[in-house]
Amino acid sequence: MDPFSIRTVRLVLDQPGHPDVDDIAAFCGEPLFERYMSTPWPYERHHAESFVGEFVPQGWATGDEWTWAIRDSPGEPLLGVIGMRLRSGMIGFWLGAPHRGRRIMSEVVDAVADEVFARTERAEILWECVLGNVASMRVAERCGFSFTGAAPGLVLDRHGRAVISWTATLRRGDDRDPKPGWPI
Ligand SMILES: CC(C)(COP(=O)(O)OP(=O)(O)OC[C@H]1O[C@@H](n2cnc3c(N)ncnc32)[C@H](O)[C@@H]1OP(=O)(O)O)[C@@H](O)C(=O)NCCC(=O)NCCS
Repeated sequence: MDPFSIRTVRLVLDQPGHPDVDDIAAFCGEPLFERYMSTPWPYERHHAESFVGEFVPQGWATGDEWTWAIRDSPGEPLLGVIGMRLRSGMIGFWLGAPHRGRRIMSEVVDAVADEVFARTERAEILWECVLGNVASMRVAERCGFSFTGAAPGLVLDRHGRAVISWTATLRRGDDRDPKPGWPI
């Protein structure tokens, strides 16, 4: 399918491209990514080049994965990335370190969830994070996901191994108010 853009109150979600490669490479080289993400490590410029040049366009072309750059407005620098895997229903996201703490990601997840439920038949969106990633957990909590436990996750680490993860679900029709039951 053709990529589509999304506007939220403060942000625009559009396609990452070659002008974003340096920012992506710098952001994904942060040590936190080794711990909490399954992106390559060490992260090098060629990883960012193949991400924007191959991975993202192929995901849209097959319809398997929708990926967006997060920006303050069109043409502005990339703040982070959000992706939705349509087969598994898994949502994933990151922000560059300087852009955290503005509640950007909950606004973005809300908007992507609206589009997923409007444009697909999916009954639910899944979220998971490596155990202890409280910042990511707060985003899922704030967006109305229901905590479903700590267990080996569906997202394998960069070595192909399952990781003990916090997991949660947002069902079609759920309100977006925070739900009880989160571990912290
Ligand atoms: C997870 C992430 C996207 C959250 O995005 P965000 O827009 O900064 O989220 P928020 O502003 O709502 O803050 C969420 C939590 O992050 C923490 N936080 C706040 N400011 C922060 C900062 N400057 N730096 C790091 N963490 C911060 C707090 O725990 C906050 O929870 P609180 O608002 O209840 O205090 C971001 O921290 C990130 O990119 N982390 C690294 C990549 C990652 O872990 N991705 C998720 C993998 S599952």
